Amino acid sequence: MTYAPDRLPDHVTLTELRDLALRVASTAATMVRDDRPTRLDTSTKSTDTDVVTVMDTRSEALLREALRIARPEDGFVGEEGADLQGSTGITWVVDPIDGTVNYLYDLPLYAVSVAAVVGSPRAPGWRPVAGAVVSPVLGTAWTAALGLGAVRHDLTTGDTAVVSIGTEAQLSHALVGTGFAYRSDTRLAQACTLVDVLPRVRDIRRLGSAATDLCLVADGRLDAYFESGLNPWDLAAGWLVLTEAGGVVVGPGASEPNTLMVVAGNRTLVEQLRTLVTS
Ligand code: IPD
Ligand code: CA
Repeated sequence: MTYAPDRLPDHVTLTELRDLALRVASTAATMVRDDRPTRLDTSTKSTDTDVVTVMDTRSEALLREALRIARPEDGFVGEEGADLQGSTGITWVVDPIDGTVNYLYDLPLYAVSVAAVVGSPRAPGWRPVAGAVVSPVLGTAWTAALGLGAVRHDLTTGDTAVVSIGTEAQLSHALVGTGFAYRSDTRLAQACTLVDVLPRVRDIRRLGSAATDLCLVADGRLDAYFESGLNPWDLAAGWLVLTEAGGVVVGPGASEPNTLMVVAGNRTLVEQLRTLVTS
């Protein structure tokens, strides 16, 4: 990943941005877990299956306000709200609940994802520079800052550990995560891709939270991951955790990951998987 440190305002460090991401994501994640109503109010977005709960909205409002208080001049892009333009060159890209369908069904795998990015997350060329993914039911957070590595946090004990990508080199032995979009036509294309991938890997996992998938790959608990149709908020923090853990995240061809495709893992697996999912 190329990055120009002079694009950050000179009074803020990557460590401060990372710590802020962890702080606000942890606060939101705790609220999402502890205040979950038994009956969730929901509405739908892009399709009938694309649900937003009252807690997605509350979490995003909390994140937006906490980040506004801490860094009032930065931009903000969240899954559930209108963009805020900033003046510092830093934009916070947040997913208030990544894994909303799991959350709706009271399944444990969901996370709050918060990343500071440079460049416009609505256009090609943006990069995450600091971020945190907090999984409140797992009791785990992953954080990263550009050039400073990735860290796993045990939220119960407070222990931390450096995160590093797995070393599996054969796609046929790889446990591969993926996910599916909410649009039915995109799902049809995803099903066709899966037909090519499934016979060639150890197995597939569809865990339901892209941010968590990326962190699990970073942490060697999945070997690789691919998905089409991701948005910047699904991707931003997990992308950085994974690259800081020594992995690679690419898009179609050798380009940056984007809405068309995200392929992630160690370099050897990504080269094998990319050919399958982008041809
Ligand atoms: C979704 C999850 C899911 C992925 C979808 C995402 P959401 O995010 O990350 O795993 O397959 O593409 O949209 O809607 O739960 O925030
Ligand atoms: Ca998401």
